[in-house]
Amino acid sequence: MSDLIDREARFLMQTYRRRPVVFTAGEGSWLIDAEGRRYLDFLTGLAVVSVGHANPRVARAVADQMERLTHTSNLFYTEPMVALAERLAEVSGLDRVFFANCGATANEAAIKLARRWGRERRGPGCYQVVSLLDSFHGRTLATLAATGQPDKQAAFAPLPPGFVQVPRGDLDALEAAVGAETAAVLIETIQGEGGVVPLDADYLQAVRRLCDEREVLLIVDDVQAGIGRTGHWFSWQGLGFRPDVATSAKALANGLPIGACLATDEVASAFRPGDHATTFGGGPVVCAAALAVLDEIADRALLENCRDRGRQLRQLLESVSGVSEVRGRGLLLAAVLDRPRASQVVDEALAQGLVVNDVRPDAVRFAPPLTVTADEVESAVERFAQALRD
Ligand SMILES: Cc1ncc(COP(=O)(O)O)c(C=O)c1O
Repeated sequence: MSDLIDREARFLMQTYRRRPVVFTAGEGSWLIDAEGRRYLDFLTGLAVVSVGHANPRVARAVADQMERLTHTSNLFYTEPMVALAERLAEVSGLDRVFFANCGATANEAAIKLARRWGRERRGPGCYQVVSLLDSFHGRTLATLAATGQPDKQAAFAPLPPGFVQVPRGDLDALEAAVGAETAAVLIETIQGEGGVVPLDADYLQAVRRLCDEREVLLIVDDVQAGIGRTGHWFSWQGLGFRPDVATSAKALANGLPIGACLATDEVASAFRPGDHATTFGGGPVVCAAALAVLDEIADRALLENCRDRGRQLRQLLESVSGVSEVRGRGLLLAAVLDRPRASQVVDEALAQGLVVNDVRPDAVRFAPPLTVTADEVESAVERFAQALRD
């Protein structure tokens, strides 16, 4: 292991502080390290491996597609891309899809679509995107400009213009910020990287009304909270509103890189041939994987399992000594600690065979697979409680 760590330090750009463990295999809710130790994975690669590690259905779909056809470019038609767009339209209630490569590039597509729509609908001065403080929308320059975390932005100034942020939950601030130049409001229903902070349904519905009144698009960044993680296909479902545009990524292909920007027919029509493009987006292999993910969620009733196991995980975490609050929805939860010691607790949890992460200095994020069992939830909370005691 130390050899690998030394080589990483020598050959990779040092953008991550990694924890000293080398994972070599995965199986359902479990990760296995180079020494054969097993860990319960309650992070799933940051809310990605939602139908479990080495999922046989996904593996088969990918292998079958790899053996038939890997890539053609977007200059031609391929079946998995169209089938996936149809399925996403069906489960989202939105109409059309642009496939990207990850969360950031899905959000870039949404921002460009909003600018295109704004220009066409309300003139060339309508391009601004209003987002929230403590949000996270990606690390490309435009998505970083939309991300309401000044500490992540500072080293990369100047960022592209046309982005402003207001405090979450503050409707007056949002009303004041949305003006003639505003094309879209961009929000997460749960601020994942911001600490797993859910926004109230009342607030979100009021944002929807404001966007309607001002003729501004509402974009939901569902990159982290979507594809079943809150017990709904998309996180706004069950919160009493629908966005005009939504983005998805992370869990959509269970670990293969994919992004999707979804929109209503009316908004999507602002994009014309040549307006936006990608070499890899919508490729047959990732789309075959994503179709298998959606089949797994539907056929194994994983939305229901997510709600049930989410309730169980929340209740058990609430009773752990040292936890002052549990927040989030479904299986995207954070245990808020009585003191800012999340990093040490996460190290100790790893030693106990539990993978979680410190999303804030005082908050530990839990995002287990949607396939997680009741026994695994119990075992994870026991390990977490032990980590807090140690
Ligand atoms: C809400 C949200 N949007 C966008 C992103 C960026 O996604 P990616 O890392 O795939 O570019 C993330 C990643 O954590 C996210 O949580």
